[in-house]
Amino acid sequence: MSALTTSPPAQPAPPGFHLGTIPVYGEAILAPMDGFSDLPFRSLCRSFGSALSYTPFVNAMEVLARSPRTERLLAFDEAERPVVYQLFDSDEDRLLRAAQAVLAHRPDVLDINMGCSVRCVSGRGAGAGLLRDPRKVARLMATLSRALPIPVTAKIRLGWDAGSRNYLDVARAVAENGGALIAIHARTREQGYTGLADWDAIAAVKDAVSIPVVGNGDVQRPADVGRMRRHTRCEAVMIGRGAIGNPWIFQGRERTQVPRRETLATIRLHLQGMLDTYGPREGIILFRKHLTRYLAPLQPPGELRAAILAETDPARFVTLLHQLEPLPVPVAAV
Ligand SMILES: Cc1cc2nc3c(=O)[nH]c(=O)nc-3n(C[C@H](O)[C@H](O)[C@H](O)COP(=O)(O)O)c2cc1C
Repeated sequence: MSALTTSPPAQPAPPGFHLGTIPVYGEAILAPMDGFSDLPFRSLCRSFGSALSYTPFVNAMEVLARSPRTERLLAFDEAERPVVYQLFDSDEDRLLRAAQAVLAHRPDVLDINMGCSVRCVSGRGAGAGLLRDPRKVARLMATLSRALPIPVTAKIRLGWDAGSRNYLDVARAVAENGGALIAIHARTREQGYTGLADWDAIAAVKDAVSIPVVGNGDVQRPADVGRMRRHTRCEAVMIGRGAIGNPWIFQGRERTQVPRRETLATIRLHLQGMLDTYGPREGIILFRKHLTRYLAPLQPPGELRAAILAETDPARFVTLLHQLEPLPVPVAAV
């Protein structure tokens, strides 16, 4: 059990929506992010209110090869449920075999990545590469949803490029072939992470299908969650980069509202989760990419910042961090 095995917040009734038969509480979800949405960060965000726990994308070929890296990516904590495993591949048969193999870990939901824009993934027809062939998407979703005992979902983009924004065809292919939910990152593969996300497209997907729709793109602040939901009528909103160094977004709190002392306590909690999951040496190094984002608003003096980021010993790290604590309020002389 990790140090972050805090219980999810008390669940309000009724659920926001259902994923198959699974009730989902809450309207904001931590996006799958390779290198970031691992067990410690997902657990933290889930305990702060993220409604679902998506793993980063996992290569179906690596699942079938039983790579140790894959086992680590698939590890989750019971308190994270509902847990969504995300797989990627271009080959239907391999995806099916990999999906059947990972069922042994008892995920709640299986998601297929249809949005990864990285050339080595999309270029071989996986990730956003699948968007080029909606009929293949239809076959894949039909095969998986028939064969698997858990809901199957898809995370898509708007299309391959500006000239092929076929997201409505893809969304229908998902919904009409057993898909239980569509998450849509409202950019094309060509856009990568640049340009404005097209929230009108999310609204159009919502109009086109009757399964739950999760909107994604350009949600940076708590107010954006409601803004996207009102604009698109989507069931929930997925938050990626806006949650890095800022899990409080799932509590609906502005980063500026989080007191310094609380920020430091959360850094320590997150670090402990990293140490529990990866061990002291690797845990502290892997934590650095989160740490830079946590530290930015605290504006530590340059030398202290550099020392904290370079520290490899957890105990010394905590001592250094302590130097960022707010000074005690002086007791008035009597
Ligand atoms: C570092 C990083 C890794 C990502 N890895 C994944 C992934 O494994 N699976 C996936 O579906 N999307 C992945 N994405 C895309 C995000 O889930 C999300 O769609 C995208 O960042 C847009 O949302 P945002 O504007 O809230 O960041 C990744 C994004 C980033 C920045």
